[in-house]
Amino acid sequence: MDEFAKAAQLIIESKNIVAFTGAGISAESGIPTFRDPGGLWDQFDPDEVGTTGGLIQTALSKPDLIRKFLLQLVEVFSKAQPNLGHFGLKSLEDMGCLKTVITQNIDALHQEAGSANVIEVHGNLFRARCLNCGRRQQLNKREFLDHACKFLSDEAGFTVPKLTELMPRCPVCHHLSRPDVVMFGEAVLDLPEAVTAAESCDLMLVLGTSGVVYPAAALPYQAYEQDAQVIEINPTGNYYDSVSEIYIELPAGEGMPKILDALKNLL
Ligand code: APR
Repeated sequence: MDEFAKAAQLIIESKNIVAFTGAGISAESGIPTFRDPGGLWDQFDPDEVGTTGGLIQTALSKPDLIRKFLLQLVEVFSKAQPNLGHFGLKSLEDMGCLKTVITQNIDALHQEAGSANVIEVHGNLFRARCLNCGRRQQLNKREFLDHACKFLSDEAGFTVPKLTELMPRCPVCHHLSRPDVVMFGEAVLDLPEAVTAAESCDLMLVLGTSGVVYPAAALPYQAYEQDAQVIEINPTGNYYDSVSEIYIELPAGEGMPKILDALKNLL
């Protein structure tokens, strides 16, 4: 039995499957990962753009670097569409075996692929959070990206004070808001829900993460400690080798269709 048939067999035997995803599942959608060669942290210093303090400091000292960083993000997010990795998880959800997707990604591509139960532990770029009352408001992705792209492409007109107006004001207290994403050093979102999902699953699919950013990176271990089986899909390494039952050394957009094919053969 090859690893795809073994994975399909585990899926058939499971009652509650949870997926845990990272930047790698969106790589085939054109969004660079963080730690691969040429990735975001190769191009930009996470101390300068990955923390709120660093971002503010850098915006004041090197405003054009921030403009370029944000413009690059906006441009890749504008073009990104869900890929076969995202749709593969949606198919498992439609079959009734996958219950929850826990993602570290802020790109909302799981929801765009149709996944209904997505826990975003690092937030969502297309949601604003009020800096005063904390109220969240969903943004229209297309409108937000078009507006941001136009604003950030205007090198001459770019100023840091104007940057704060990129996000809509709070609809209730009219205070400034920020993207509802989690920067380094900030508390992750919905962690209790994510831990509950991880600890109650009997199979966890781990797709496209290097497993180095905690507390999220602990979730596959927490699932394993509750006797769940773990399947990892990643083309560059078996980062959860100590707990994974099956390792598929392929991009998610290739690995998921092969698993679904094997599943069809077994059903
Ligand atoms: N399919 C699956 N995995 C892939 C693919 C692909 N097509 N392409 C690359 N990968 C792998 C990479 O080789 C790497 O091992 O996905 C992993 C992505 O790891 P990181 O870049 O470290 O991203 P991630 O694990 O999601 O980072 C966690 O760190 O920077 C912070 O907040 C940010 O949520 C992020 C967190």
